[in-house]
Amino acid sequence: MSDFSNPNFPYDFIGQVLITQEQIEQRVAELGHQITKDYADSERLLLLGLLRGSVVFMTDLMRNIHLPITLDFMSVSSYAGATSSGFVRIDSDHKTNIHGWDVILIDDIVDSGYTLRTVSKLLRDRQPHSLALCALLDKVAQHRVQLDIHYLGFEIPDYFVVGYGLDIDEKGRNLPYIASVDLEKYQRGKK
Ligand code: IMP
Ligand code: MG
Repeated sequence: MSDFSNPNFPYDFIGQVLITQEQIEQRVAELGHQITKDYADSERLLLLGLLRGSVVFMTDLMRNIHLPITLDFMSVSSYAGATSSGFVRIDSDHKTNIHGWDVILIDDIVDSGYTLRTVSKLLRDRQPHSLALCALLDKVAQHRVQLDIHYLGFEIPDYFVVGYGLDIDEKGRNLPYIASVDLEKYQRGKK
């Protein structure tokens, strides 16, 4: 068998694996089944993902939803490096007219909660039939605003994490698990 190992991957700033690939797979299947049940009567179900972090989660989740769905995306930024700015900018809006749709807004992780709060406020003004929030991860201790996450994968402690779509400066999105980042090593590596 050929050796695909690469000394630069996975990155040396990876700390510990917090959630394994198997745990993610199982939880995403459960969320998909729950959504399938909850939206059995829905006539127009839209999965609206926030780019780019939610993409891996969303593509797995949608295959566990056994209902007709439509996909759309928005791109927002609130973050530079590893600190929350509290300022959320809409870089690119969704294309679907969501008036009358059942919308599930999907993000990778809730930290301060500003992103999901800001985007959900904006979406409510567009009068969907319903709006639910879904996130793979939640750093509950970090919340700055009150938020109802209807579909949540896992609560995690206050680590900066990468993998399964999540990044640090665009690195780590393609890792199949969720791992903490050793921020000291990461900073050293940048010099
Ligand atoms: P919030 O607006 O503070 O809730 O931040 C949410 C956004 O920050 C998410 O969409 C992520 O893009 C990013 N984020 C927060 N924590 C992490 C992390 O640990 N790893 C990677 N991205 C994160
Ligand atoms: Mg994000």
